[in-house]
Amino acid sequence: MSGPAPLVTGKKVLVAGGGGFIGSHLARRLKKDGNYVVVADWKKNEFMAEPEFCDEFFLVDLRELENCIKASKGCHHVYNLAADMGGMGFIESNQSVLMWNNTMVSSNVLEAARRNGAERYFYSSTACVYNEDLQLDPSNPGLKEGDAWPAKPQEVYGLEKLYHEEMALAYSRDFPLVSRIARFHNVYGPFGTWKGGREKAPAAFCRKAVGSTEHFEVWGDGEQTRSFMYVDDCVEGVLRIMMSDTATMPLNLGTEQMGVRGRNSDNTLIREMLGWEPLISIEDGLRETYFWIKGQIEKERAAGVVFDYSSSKVVVQTTESLDALASKQEKSN
Ligand code: NAD
Ligand code: GDD
Repeated sequence: MSGPAPLVTGKKVLVAGGGGFIGSHLARRLKKDGNYVVVADWKKNEFMAEPEFCDEFFLVDLRELENCIKASKGCHHVYNLAADMGGMGFIESNQSVLMWNNTMVSSNVLEAARRNGAERYFYSSTACVYNEDLQLDPSNPGLKEGDAWPAKPQEVYGLEKLYHEEMALAYSRDFPLVSRIARFHNVYGPFGTWKGGREKAPAAFCRKAVGSTEHFEVWGDGEQTRSFMYVDDCVEGVLRIMMSDTATMPLNLGTEQMGVRGRNSDNTLIREMLGWEPLISIEDGLRETYFWIKGQIEKERAAGVVFDYSSSKVVVQTTESLDALASKQEKSN
């Protein structure tokens, strides 16, 4: 089967969060390219059997350092894609729990990589790190990497990402661990979350379009704009950034295809560093995504599931994930 040329091969790699959307696509590509792939996640992947995307799967909570150490043992490269996250409705409504969970995961995966002597560490940051004033400025055509400072991220989700960028860079300065960082702009594609409250706008719109007859609801004033990146471009960009000798600073990873007022990627730096940028158009990527979501809905309907696919509800997380860890730790004391 043809596909993009391998960018890394013959390595033992950990994909933390590889049970999720981008992580599972990345793990599958790394395995196909001839790497030994370890995945660690606290949930199994819904769409692929393990042999399709990894050689070993650790079903573990990465908020615990000892689990991170076990999973990254002997790994040359560690890709950290794990985070408690979702679309804007979800991250705005679950700030405290997300911040604690993600602080623990990010810190522990990085420290485990160092303790196990990994050569390279990749961190999946976000366009949410950017100063929110710039995101509301209609005259701002694209966010440049330097615009993240002085810091004023829209949400604490973005603040945690910005802090961990700095932590990964500090580890690189102090230890023989090469850190690489990408700021993803809204990523979509098959196998992405498409219902349940964590879905982002592209998947939500596809689902609502399939589930509606005439109109569907769009949150906000409808004037928001974004840069959307198809998942294959994201995986290619992650590998190129990880293996680059020069991309020592956080880089935007997104397309420049957008209108005004909102969050667009300025790709000057990634073009300079890699001579490459994501180019899959929203028309092509969305076509794949729409028909994949339509297929999921048809499967559910054929199985007798009755569900209102035409609207989106904001889901507020409980403290369940915090309580589960607390009770486990109490038992072991
Ligand atoms: P996702 O939710 O599908 O994947 C994240 C995975 O992390 C999930 O499988 C989840 O179970 C796992 N995880 C979370 N907490 C964990 C824990 N304590 N222990 C073990 N596993 C845990 O999301 P995604 O879209 O694939 O995002 C991957 C990464 O990219 C995340 O770090 C996210 O913040 C970042 N990112 C994504 C986007 C996007 O548009 N999808 C944009 C910017 C940044
Ligand atoms: N999710 C969602 N669902 N968003 C909607 C909907 C809907 O039904 N209708 C309108 N929107 C609007 C949101 O209010 C927001 O203004 C815009 O569409 C984009 O929302 P999302 O796709 O949910 O998220 P985002 O682009 O603001 O942020 C996402 O991308 C970041 C990286 O660029 C999130 O996934 C972040 O976690 C991620 O870091």
